[in-house]
Amino acid sequence: MIDPFGRSIDYLRVSVTDRCDFRCTYCMAEHMTFLPKKELLSLEELDRLCTVFIEKGVRRLRLTGGEPLVRKNVMHLIERLSRHLRSGALNELTLTSNGSQLFRFADQLADLGVRRINVSLDTLDPDKFRQITRWGNLDRVMAGLESARKAGLKVKINTVALKDFNDQEIPELIRWAHGSGMDMTVIETMPMGEIEEDRTDHYLPLSVLRANLADTFDMRDIPYKTGGPARYVEIAETGGRLGFITPMTHNFCESCNRVRITCTGTLYMCLGQDDAADLRAPLRNSEGNESLSNAIDAAIARKPKGHDFIIDRRNNRPAVARHMSVTGG
Ligand code: GTP
Ligand code: 5AD
Ligand code: SF4
Repeated sequence: MIDPFGRSIDYLRVSVTDRCDFRCTYCMAEHMTFLPKKELLSLEELDRLCTVFIEKGVRRLRLTGGEPLVRKNVMHLIERLSRHLRSGALNELTLTSNGSQLFRFADQLADLGVRRINVSLDTLDPDKFRQITRWGNLDRVMAGLESARKAGLKVKINTVALKDFNDQEIPELIRWAHGSGMDMTVIETMPMGEIEEDRTDHYLPLSVLRANLADTFDMRDIPYKTGGPARYVEIAETGGRLGFITPMTHNFCESCNRVRITCTGTLYMCLGQDDAADLRAPLRNSEGNESLSNAIDAAIARKPKGHDFIIDRRNNRPAVARHMSVTGG
């Protein structure tokens, strides 16, 4: 699949549920209205949809949410999708998770061929963790990370960098992640979905964070690439990798390789734009995949050049009305 700007689309992110057992304050409002369960695609339909994308050239598939591991029987879906790893059609099957259920599923994930996962963690302080997630239990996530380590899963820690929340703690997070053999990425907060907080209060450009980190660490740019938008440095003191994901200050859209589907079968061609295509109707209207495949081609043909997120203090509205949890980042 090649888009109008010549970018090859070989990476699909699939949000298997919009629900999450946390309510991170930068991601969700405290009281969210989630989709009625009857609106969701079944696991069989999700499998069929993913399989069509794989036939059309997707080589990397990431399940997201909300929290993917709270979708009922999600392991059945992962088990079915893992046949594409075994056949060689798929190079990578992975997950972005909040880690809360990882202690239950890490072994099974590793057995099914998942090699690495990304786990969101913004602080190592249990009280602050409860505050940012509204009620999350840090011990559970730590137990999940330990299960992942024992199962041999490689982990990348995702940390949203938030001024006056965790900016002072980031060196400690880096030492901890690298000391535990994990990569880490820091992320600029993106204005998506109505939340209670004023995002401008906590927005931290990563150029500022990087300049501050340079007082503590010796960082060297490295060409390491995962296919994601992070630009990596290696830190001499820890020997570990730190990635910077900068949707606000340094747009990486020119090398975009991805599209997203939601748990209702809506295809978003860009995280930061509203244009979308319904794939549920062509999926359900025919047993064959031709009209589905045509609908995907038509959507890829209008993938926009990129996002243009801005944080606007005077007009404190999100740039994109849907919450991050609808498309899983
Ligand atoms: P890797 O395969 O490990 O590189 O994963 P990743 O960094 O692409 O995915 P992950 O789910 O860990 O996402 C980390 C952060 O990057 C999240 O906040 C995502 O919303 C953000 N992100 C991922 N892809 C895009 C993108 O295409 N555009 C924008 N604006 N943000 C993205
Ligand atoms: N801006 C940036 N990242 C966000 N995430 C959730 N909401 C936002 C936001 N508004 C992150 C989560 C997770 C990843 C999928 O997206 O922390 O690591
Ligand atoms: Fe859930 Fe992730 Fe959003 Fe936190 S950032 S509320 S863990 S989907």
